[in-house]
Amino acid sequence: MNNRPIGVYDSGFGGLSVWRELHRALPCESLIYLGDGKNCPYGSLPKQRITELAEAAVRDLVERGCKMVVVACNTATAAAISHLRATFDIPIVGLEPAVKPACAMTRSKVVGVIATERSLKGEKFLSTVERYGQGVEVIKAVGEGFVESVENNEEDTPATEQIVRRVVEPIIERGADVIVLGCTHYPFLRDVIARVVGERDVAIIDSGAAVEKRVESLLDEYGLRASQDNVARIEFITYADNKYGQRLRDKALESL
Ligand code: DGL
Repeated sequence: MNNRPIGVYDSGFGGLSVWRELHRALPCESLIYLGDGKNCPYGSLPKQRITELAEAAVRDLVERGCKMVVVACNTATAAAISHLRATFDIPIVGLEPAVKPACAMTRSKVVGVIATERSLKGEKFLSTVERYGQGVEVIKAVGEGFVESVENNEEDTPATEQIVRRVVEPIIERGADVIVLGCTHYPFLRDVIARVVGERDVAIIDSGAAVEKRVESLLDEYGLRASQDNVARIEFITYADNKYGQRLRDKALESL
């Protein structure tokens, strides 16, 4: 048993799509959500810069007493997960695009993966495509403008629909029947992506639920579950200004 918090970290609001899964499934666990905000988006930053940002953020969460950290950011995972695991001696969970389930479920043998530029260059991502994508065409597309739409709370605007259409339409035209949301910001655009997909038979998948399961299995493996009577504390922190912090809290509560 361990009642210390679990840290959940992302460049901004995106990791809330993972946070909400943890909050729902693990009501006794205290959670500290760190949404950098100041340096967002990470997607096109150099690997070294993302590694520095991720190390500082995880150190901050460790110093706040976290027993485990979920890097709820595919981009930071792609750039820095090995370094983080070598630097900190608590369990660190990373996030990767759900390529394996997508390749297992496609019938058309064409899968689209939308993610940031950095994630699509990640070694683990490329080796997963190599390993599980045999006989499957894996279309890689950068979600240009997606993160900005979510950070600006503009999910429901015609401009965002245009941004999404520009990326999603060519993937479907090439025959994909599964679209992988390979960035934690993108589940906030699920409704608009579904609108663009329309009647066509295309599944939209993300990694949120799988990561929640992974967290549970690590809590058990390390004996780190909070006690049943723990009164969970929920905290939000950011390196951006107070206004951003308030929007982060509002978005978290709306996402439940
Ligand atoms: N939410 C992040 C991810 O999962 C990164 C978005 C960004 O900062 O570019 O990749």
